[in-house]
Amino acid sequence: ADEPLVLGIETSCDETGVGIVRGHTLLADAIASSVDEHARFGGVVPEVASRAHLEAMVPTIQRALKDAGVAASDLDGIAVTAGPGLAGALLVGVSAAKAYAYALGKPLYGVNHLASHICVDQLEHGALPEPTMALLVSGGHSSLLLAPDITTDVRPLGSTIDDAAGEAFDKVARVLGLGFPGGPAIDRQARDGDPGAIRFPRGLTGGRDPIYDFSFSGLKTAVARWVEGKRREGVAVPVADVAASFQEAVVDVLTRKAVRACKDNGVDHLMIGGGVAANSRLRSLAQERCADAGIVLRVPRPGLCTDNGAMVAALGAEMVARGRPASTWDLPADSSLPV
Ligand code: KG4
Ligand code: ZN
Repeated sequence: ADEPLVLGIETSCDETGVGIVRGHTLLADAIASSVDEHARFGGVVPEVASRAHLEAMVPTIQRALKDAGVAASDLDGIAVTAGPGLAGALLVGVSAAKAYAYALGKPLYGVNHLASHICVDQLEHGALPEPTMALLVSGGHSSLLLAPDITTDVRPLGSTIDDAAGEAFDKVARVLGLGFPGGPAIDRQARDGDPGAIRFPRGLTGGRDPIYDFSFSGLKTAVARWVEGKRREGVAVPVADVAASFQEAVVDVLTRKAVRACKDNGVDHLMIGGGVAANSRLRSLAQERCADAGIVLRVPRPGLCTDNGAMVAALGAEMVARGRPASTWDLPADSSLPV
């Protein structure tokens, strides 16, 4: 095949991900996570993450090559997350990518983490129409992005002004004693709860509020206060109802604003990515609202929504396919890299 064969490395947070793709076809998606090492701290500890990446890097690259059944010499390029993310964590991936690319004589492609969260959908549903509208919701980001060209032009329409959506899930899970990461735990609890039990606030949905920005910090505080109130009264906290009502407030705002962004910009499809895209209620409400608005919804399977190497390889392959210039050997790891 003449589609580009690319290896991608992702180390922006706590997952050491190495993926290999040929064009839009996923060949390997090896991952090593340090999530268990962070659990007792209730969040990702940067120093612990960097060290774990360093230990996992070479074995994970070897595993991906073995899984894909390809020789490193056959690669058309090596892609790596250059940012945004944790500085020390990014540096491990960028250094590894440079070493492999230089040793193998292959071009190096530094890519943006958010753009690759969008591009990964090509591995599931084929070529993304352009411009693409994307809602990216993870532990570090909550953004609406309009991408006229996924390799060169990704424009932020709006983002969170305080907590990311996943961060709100994690914090509320902690309040409810559900552990870290909180998203999956809340998702599970919410299945047995009533989403209409408690009316929690919907941030930035007033008439004068920014249309595409998000705010979840007020919601998180409202949930914490409500739970504290029950505890003070000595009443058992209805965990499932709180989880379902909180989750409903988050996904209501996310889907409402995403559909609005599509309509305002004349885009007839919506891509949802990032760890929170694994949320079952977000998926079902987005499906419902997109169908009502005549919008085609594209959400990759949960394993591709959370951080992984395949998404980096997918964007790298797109860059090779479109003849984009390779990065230079002084490619920096940029913790606040803009899209
Ligand atoms: O994209 P990701 O793996 O890493 C970041 O770049 O942040 O996202 C992780 C975030 C965590 O906050 C986690 O709680 C959340 O995604 N998450 C979920 C679900 N699965 C993971 N949030 C809600 N519902 C889920 N099912
Ligand atoms: Zn991410």
